[in-house]
Amino acid sequence: MSKPISLAIIGATGGVGSAFLAALPSIVLPPSTPRPQLIFLSRSKKQLYNKDYSPVSPEDLASSSSPLLSLPDLAKYLSTSPNPTVLVDNTSDQSVAEAYPLFLKSNISIITPNKKAFSSPLPLWNAIFSAVTRTALVYHESSVGAGLPIISTLNDLVRTGDQVTRIEGVFSGTMSFLFNTFAPASESASSPGKWSEIVGKAKAAGYTEPDPRDDLNGMDVARKCVILARCAGLKVESTSSFPIQSLIPSALESASSADEFMQKLPNHDDEMESYKTEAKKQGKVVRYVGKVDVENNKVSVGLEMVDQGSPIAGLKGSDNLICFYTKRYGSNPLVVQGAGAGNEVTAMGVLADLVKVIERLG
Ligand SMILES: NC(=O)c1ccc[n+]([C@@H]2O[C@H](COP(=O)([O-])OP(=O)(O)OC[C@H]3O[C@@H](n4cnc5c(N)ncnc54)[C@H](OP(=O)(O)O)[C@@H]3O)[C@@H](O)[C@H]2O)c1
Ligand SMILES: *[C@@H]1O[C@H](CO)[C@@H](O)[C@H](O)[C@H]1NC(C)=O
Ligand SMILES: *[C@@H]1O[C@H](CO)[C@@H](O)[C@H](O)[C@H]1NC(C)=O
Repeated sequence: MSKPISLAIIGATGGVGSAFLAALPSIVLPPSTPRPQLIFLSRSKKQLYNKDYSPVSPEDLASSSSPLLSLPDLAKYLSTSPNPTVLVDNTSDQSVAEAYPLFLKSNISIITPNKKAFSSPLPLWNAIFSAVTRTALVYHESSVGAGLPIISTLNDLVRTGDQVTRIEGVFSGTMSFLFNTFAPASESASSPGKWSEIVGKAKAAGYTEPDPRDDLNGMDVARKCVILARCAGLKVESTSSFPIQSLIPSALESASSADEFMQKLPNHDDEMESYKTEAKKQGKVVRYVGKVDVENNKVSVGLEMVDQGSPIAGLKGSDNLICFYTKRYGSNPLVVQGAGAGNEVTAMGVLADLVKVIERLG
């Protein structure tokens, strides 16, 4: 009988972390594989663990008064666990991401939905993947498209010797919602409304970051494109290596608050309206698209006019859609589509990674 996996979770109380913990008892493991044991939980100012590596209960985190371990001390503590150890990073914290190479060198596997580590400047990516061993693994399925099988699909294509020529699609649930609503492929009876109204609705429904400029600047899509480009073999230095079209009107870059931004956004509705009209004249609709042209070593992120009948134009709600163009698949791409955000589906991607790690380490 193999040893149980010791599980450490940073960011256990977030949306994704809570969904992960709720679903953890439901994972299906190969016969006679022991269930993973939670040995460490943390949120930003609290931690819960036992010096002797005995299991902890999530309910006890709130009342815990354990001293806070620094990241290097956490790596040291986990490295001497008697069982194979997996760290789940459910934060969006840059300093946790920067510590991945240290954890890996300490023989600890990493699973995370956090995009930061994989989209930061290239040296961190190289440090992470050069520290991977047979017992210190890295999985980050949910860093692009939440639970959708995007990273695993891309890795399978690359590792089976297919040649990926191009990857393109809609990688942001927020951008998907905004454009599917603003410029639907099929006209409905009621007018969809002005751009600023749609951004306002999305903000009120919690579909945007608290400051919608954090979505409209295109950085989230750019980070995901960096991750896919690197998985496809391109040496992209950083998100500053390629053009990113920001949808923040330049006059509003410096607005001092989200409220001020929302208040002034209606003054700039004409600009988005003219993109929409121009697309319509050509029988197209406007969408915010990420593109990785692997063959020509080019990445770009921004507005595109797409055919009304195309899969991207037909997206609904906040779905993501990713097309992989490869030698093997020929002119019809391999397409992955579905919800690209949400706590449960993101946690599902993390759990699926966990099952893979348990199978490999167990
Ligand atoms: N939700 C989605 O749809 C989705 C989709 C794809 C990817 N992701 C990624 O998944 C990750 C988690 O997202 P989320 O929505 O669950 O975020 P969240 O709700 O903001 O949760 C973040 C968690 O991390 C903790 N935390 C922050 N900094 C920390 C630190 N330095 N040390 C320890 N704990 C820390 C927070 O603790 P406190 O509560 O104590 O501050 C909280 O438990 C992010 O990287 C996000 O980009 C999310
Ligand atoms: C995130 O953190 C929570 C921590 O409680 C954990 O249960 C979960 O598995 C982590 N991963 C994801 C994707 O939520
Ligand atoms: C690393 O962890 C594995 C268990 O996953 C263990 O068998 C191995 O001995 C460890 N290696 C070192 C160098 O500690």
